[in-house]
Amino acid sequence: MSQPPPLDERAAAPRPTPKRGVLDIAPYVPGKSMIEGVEHPLKLSANENILGSSPKAREAFAGAIDQLHMYPDGRAGILRTAIAETFGLEPERLVFGCGSDEIFQLLNQAFLEPGDNIVQGEFGFGAYAIGARACQAEVRMAPEPGYRIDVDEMLKLVDARTRLVFVANPGNPTGTWISADEVRRLHDGLAPSVILVLDGAYAEFVDDPSFSDGLGLARRAQNVVVTRTFSKLHGLAALRVGWAYMPVEIADALDRIRLPFNTSIPGQLAAVAALADTEFQERSLALVNRWRAWLHQQLGGLGLEVTPSAANFVLVEFPRTPDKSARDAEAFLASRGLIVRGVTGYGLPHHLRITIGLEEHNRAVIDALTDFMKG
Ligand SMILES: Cc1ncc(COP(=O)(O)O)c(C=O)c1O
Repeated sequence: MSQPPPLDERAAAPRPTPKRGVLDIAPYVPGKSMIEGVEHPLKLSANENILGSSPKAREAFAGAIDQLHMYPDGRAGILRTAIAETFGLEPERLVFGCGSDEIFQLLNQAFLEPGDNIVQGEFGFGAYAIGARACQAEVRMAPEPGYRIDVDEMLKLVDARTRLVFVANPGNPTGTWISADEVRRLHDGLAPSVILVLDGAYAEFVDDPSFSDGLGLARRAQNVVVTRTFSKLHGLAALRVGWAYMPVEIADALDRIRLPFNTSIPGQLAAVAALADTEFQERSLALVNRWRAWLHQQLGGLGLEVTPSAANFVLVEFPRTPDKSARDAEAFLASRGLIVRGVTGYGLPHHLRITIGLEEHNRAVIDALTDFMKG
């Protein structure tokens, strides 16, 4: 057997290098979950469901204990049937993912060649761009005046190399949304070869009649993908279950490249149970509706600008004065055991994003910010 070369020769040899562009990608920074020296901080930084998850979903998850040695059904048959029936969709047009994050990744991977581009809003959810850059595609960001998607600004950036247009509706970290008419106008402005991705991670939280989750448009169109998640309203973020509805040809492409077992048995079972637990969903929505309005009003009363949100969080702007900055506020809240989300990485250094909590959490946030603004 030949001996490995001596160490100094190896040091000079070329190293494995990731392909062009990968090391230029800024890694995704998740919401913090710890504060040094605080044993049980309150996490209001990741838009999780503050009520936890449905008791029925927890039961279903626990019921999977005897199946841990088994591979899951790679097509998530039970969940496919449940979603198709609940939303009135064709089962063969559904794709499941390890969170909806994986579905963005699959779309990028399947459709982007180096030199192509994606278009998104300037405050677009971070995962779209990471996947596109990994495919050596360009990421084009349209201005969002008033922190809201502007259809004309988006369309201005679309050209012959645009393959995907991403819109989170409502957006994260903005919480703002666009109407069904605006979505339709965006779609009308795209060539049939461009895919419009409507990310509905927070769609359930919107109750305005002019809003649509886009499933109706996707049903008719050849180039619309709607993504959804069990991570937010359903409180199953740890189980990583997302799904998407799309033309059957796109589903076929994604199914060819996804990992064969990308959702787990406990995840599928818990998701099916969560979908059926409308009582838990209604309770979660009622909590968010009530305390979102209260937080908005209280924060406004402190002289802070709040972006009108349709999701389970609010985006708050802080003064640009040195000791009242968003950074100072984040540190002050942390000193009270409250973790919120700094959004500098989204180009919003003067804002914080705060997940809506239980009554006592929301009151603790307002008490802390009252002291912070006074101090
Ligand atoms: C707008 C938006 N889309 C998608 C996701 C991804 O959710 P998941 O991968 O958990 O389904 C998130 C998570 O924060 C989000 O905020």
